[in-house]
Parts: sequence; structure tokens; C-alpha cells
Amino acid sequence: MKNIAIFASGDGSNAQNIIDFFKSSYSGVEVRLIISNNPMANVLNRAKKAGIPSLIVDRNTFYNSSQTAERLMAENIDLIVLAGFLWKVPENLIKSFPDKIINIHPALLPKFGGKGMFGMNVHKAVVEAKEKQSGISIHFVNEDYDEGRLISQHTCEIAESDTPEIVAGKIHQLEMDYFPKAIFDLLN
Ligand code: GRF
Repeated sequence: MKNIAIFASGDGSNAQNIIDFFKSSYSGVEVRLIISNNPMANVLNRAKKAGIPSLIVDRNTFYNSSQTAERLMAENIDLIVLAGFLWKVPENLIKSFPDKIINIHPALLPKFGGKGMFGMNVHKAVVEAKEKQSGISIHFVNEDYDEGRLISQHTCEIAESDTPEIVAGKIHQLEMDYFPKAIFDLLN
């Protein structure tokens, strides 16, 4: 059985999608832990409903101790999946899980990435730039936001009339369609 931990800060629709995808035992993958920096994050409710343990981290613990890495090692985590996690991953965690932390970014990196580029900020920037396409980027995580080695990208067309909200909907669909499969392929 391969074990994954999901880190999320918000609604957790990607986390839910991943949980549902791997729910059947024959997948050989289990979501063992959900970690959030936001005690009010809806992803915590999703974890509870799915019967998956969750952990809320505060800045001091996350950045100034190895407690998070120790818990992940205790759970025999094989892959850490960031799905809308807004904090930068600390060095100690990257060193403890080399090439075992991945993130999904709702744009075609290296464009429209980096600090502050999350959620609607990304789609507004894409529309303002009059891009003809956008997409998702699944990548390994290193010490800088959105700069790790790319694993895969999937694109969608952007019409001139598309609002940032329409773009967000197209991107969300790509996330639902491709993220769980990318995780499965990485683990097998
Ligand atoms: C998604 O757009 C993902 O690409 C980005 O953060 C968002 C998470 O949304 N990393 P949700 O919390 O999974 O609904």
C-alpha cells in the first residue's frame, strides 16, 4: 500500500477528488493524513467525513520544528501532495522527503506562478494578459514557490470573452480530470 498525505489550506475540492479516486482498496494507494494551516479550512470537514486523520499546523511548529516531518515519517508517507496549500514548504520537510512532494498550480508554469499567484489572482492575470490558453501544472516542490521540476501540464483554450471565473471553471475541470491520475502514475 502506498500512503499519501494531502496538504490544503482551503475548500479541498482537489483533496476530495483524490480521496474519492483512491477510496477503492484495489488502487493500492491510501490517503493517510490531511494537513492544513487553516483551522477553518473546509478540507478538514472533508477529512472528517472520509474518516481520515487531520493535523492543523501553526507557523512556529511548521517552520521551527521537525514535528511535521516526524509525523509524516511515522505514518510511512510515500508522497506529499499539496492541493491548494498556501504556505511555502520548509527546508526540513523538503530534505526529509526529497522528490516526494508535489504541487498543482492552476496555470502553465513558469508563467503566472510565484508568490501571491493563487486562486483568482492567477486567472485574472491570464485574462488580463489576453492568453489564448491556460492550464494546470503538476510539479515537484523545492524551496521556492512553484519552481520545482515539472511533471505534467494540461491545457485548455481561453476565449476572448472568457471571464476569470469562466477560466477558473475550465482549470478546475482539468484538475479534477488529471491530478489523481498523475499521483497514481507517480506511485506506480
Ligand atoms: C486549486 O486551484 C489548485 O490548483 C491550487 O489551489 C486550488 C485548490 O483548490 N493549488 P481546492 O482547495 O482543492 O478546491
